[in-house]
This record gives sequence, structure tokens and C-alpha cells, in this order.
Amino acid sequence: MKQDMIVILDLGSTENTTIARQIRDLGVYSEIHPHDITVGELEKLENVKGIVLNGGENRVVNGSAVDIDPSLYQCGYPMLAIDHPTAKCEMTRDSLPTEEEMKEFVFGVCQAEANWNMKNFIEDQVERIRRQVGDRKVLLALSGGVDSSVVAAMLIKAIGQQLVCVHVNHGLMRKHESESVVEVFQNQLHANLIYVDAVERFLGKLEGVADPEKKRKIIGGEFIRVFEEEARKLEGIDFLGQGTIYPDIIESGTKTAKMVKSHHNVGGLPEDLKFELVEPLKQLFKDEVRSCGLELGLPESMVYRQPFPGPGLGVRCLGAITRDRLEAVRESDAILREEFERAGLNKKVWQYFTVVPDFKSVGVKNNARCFDYMVIIRAINTVDAMSATVERVDWDVLERITNRILAEVGNVCRVCYDMSPKPPATIEFE
Ligand code: XMP
Repeated sequence: MKQDMIVILDLGSTENTTIARQIRDLGVYSEIHPHDITVGELEKLENVKGIVLNGGENRVVNGSAVDIDPSLYQCGYPMLAIDHPTAKCEMTRDSLPTEEEMKEFVFGVCQAEANWNMKNFIEDQVERIRRQVGDRKVLLALSGGVDSSVVAAMLIKAIGQQLVCVHVNHGLMRKHESESVVEVFQNQLHANLIYVDAVERFLGKLEGVADPEKKRKIIGGEFIRVFEEEARKLEGIDFLGQGTIYPDIIESGTKTAKMVKSHHNVGGLPEDLKFELVEPLKQLFKDEVRSCGLELGLPESMVYRQPFPGPGLGVRCLGAITRDRLEAVRESDAILREEFERAGLNKKVWQYFTVVPDFKSVGVKNNARCFDYMVIIRAINTVDAMSATVERVDWDVLERITNRILAEVGNVCRVCYDMSPKPPATIEFE
């Protein structure tokens, strides 16, 4: 089925995504489009029931004000103007509409139907994927992160064995993470999954490399090479599945945004590997991706997974990676996650993890001097990861975590808690 849609024209307001969310929360689909959309382009979007214009202070780009094509006022769609008073609109407000006002516009003025929900969305996408792919094959890099996992589940529902998932274990995953990808996708969802054990290869390339940027480049570059090698072994693949989500598109594509961030997931594949993209989540916000994953039957632990950097534990085992310190990071992280879950903090805290610096400190174990590693715990809250505050973790919880790390993780004699907000400290250490 095709859902009714309210279009938001992007005149540079930072509130556009909030408005899109507000409308979707009413059960009506909403998309943001550039301010210079033409009447013809707008008419091509099916089922548009109304338009929202929102100006605000960003309405000036390169010294001149941006405005919509004046002929849009004549094309018959009901319009709501926020902070952009114009007598040509059905409704005007000088600040964000309340829920009641938005309901009045969407259902009263536009006569839209509340037919946007995850079940309909999945049905619609499954049909689109089948139409796009036909009887051909799709390749997907399945990291186990929220977005790639939900894309995989969606593609399995749509095309089953025509999807080939590749999971690269680079040795920098958290405890049991690769195993759970295999368990969920191979054993439970019966996906066509290629598991690549590249642990030795990655650790070999990283040996002795201490510079954070070099480490990131090696991990990213090697990932693409491994993925490319697997892709070349396969025959008859025409499509590449990608976990692009709506904020990626908004951030990299608006004409009025002040800061433009380029976005790529499996970017950098060689030119001769030409794939058409399949991006079934590109209309969803992050929390909608999670609801979609739950609706598709993925476990909560996978869907509510906290953000985890692409280079994984590689940037938490500080300096040149050694196997003993990498294990100390992995084991201490597992303890931290277990104890946060037990204390109910996993649902409250945005991101939490441990790091192990590349130096030792003096301690005493079994009545003798020891010289062992240090584990640092970091737990932060943020809205957009641009700034962050430190979680005030209960002392008893911290003490329990500390005692477990000291008792269960080898070569560690000291545990610290990082008190630094961002800025000046970044969330990760490297
Ligand atoms: P920082 O350390 O810059 O981190 O304050 C902000 C957020 O981004 C995550 N992060 C990354 N994510 N690849 C990623 O996919 C990376 O290389 C990377 N580095 C940092 C970090 O975990 C935090 O959530």
C-alpha cells in the first residue's frame, strides 16, 4: 500500500527533522525535500497530502534568502507555514506547532490518513526489494551493528537465499559478538552467510602500529580488501545492500545545511566492482530502524546495541595493539556490560566501555610487587555525540565492577573511572 505523505520543504531550519518525527508519530509518513523542488517533482511523489514550510534563522544561504518556487502556492496542496508568515498558506504558526495543532493540520486540513506503521512499511519495502532485485543476488557486509542487521533481516524476508551476507571478524569485536551474528543470522534466520575469520590478518597488519590515525586507516582499508576478495569469489552479484538511514541522507544531502558531512559505509570498493545499491532503511530515523528490527524478529540485544566504532576494540586498546591488552579490553568490557545490565543502566546510559592504556603501573598481588595494566571505565550520555556528559554511576555498582575486573581479568591491577566530559575529551580515547 502507498502511505499518505506530508512533505516538509527545507528552508534551512534545524527543526525540520523534529517536525518530520512529530508527523510520523501521528502515524502519517513525512519526508523532507529541498526548498527548490518544482511542482512537477512534487507531483511525482505519490500521495502527498500537504506541505509544511519552516524558515528560521538559517533561511539565508550565501548572503541571500532562500524561498520556494512561488508556483507551489497555486498547486492545490494545503500548506502550513511556521516562522514564515504568508497569507497564501492554509495555516500559519510563529513557532513549532503543538501536537493538537499538528493534528488539526494533518488530519483536519490535509485529510491525511494515519496509515504509516512498521508493518505497512516492511510490506511495502519487501515488495519494492522484490521488484528491484528480481531473481538476482544482493551482497551485504553484515557487521552485527543495528543498521546492517536490520537491512539483513529485511532482505532475508524479501529475497531469502538471494542475499549473501559477509561477516568479517577482524578480531576487534566485543566478546561473543561474531558468534551472535552467526547464531542469529545463520542458525535462526537461515541466511546465506559467509563468515570470514580475518583475526590473524588484521592483528598482523596492526602489529607495532601506535598512531591512532594509522590504526584506523589500516583497519578500514583492510576491511575493504577482505570484503572485496570475498565479493570477487562470488558470481552473479548485481546489488550491494547498505544500511543507509534517513539522518545520513539529510546530513549529506541538504542544500541549506551549514555543516555537510560526507557519508559512506562500504565506501572505497574498486571501480570494476560495480553494484547497484539496495537501501531499504533510507527513509527511517534510528529509533524507527530499531522498531523495524524488532518487528522483523531480531533480538532486543541486537536492536538496542549501543554505538560501537567501526575500528572496534582497536581504538580502545590504546597505542600499539598487543593480544594480552586486547583480551583485557574485551573481558573488562564484557564485565562492564553485564553489570550495567544487572543495574538497569544499559537502558539509561548512552555509551559505556573500557579502555586499556599501553603502560603498566605498580601493584601488589599475593604479597608480592606486580607490574600490570590499568582498565579505565567510561560511561557517557549525549544526544548527538557532539558533546557528552559523564554518567554519575552509583558507587556500589562501580565497586562491584572494579572487584570483578581485578579478580577475573588477567594482568590488571588498577581500575579508574573517566570523569571527563566532551569537550574537551572525545568519547573514544583515540
Ligand atoms: P568521539 O570519540 O569522536 O566519538 O567523541 C563520537 C561517537 O562516534 C563513535 N566513533 C566512531 N564510529 N567509526 C564509527 O563508526 C569510527 O571510526 C568512530 N570513532 C568514534 C564513538 O564511539 C562515539 O559514539
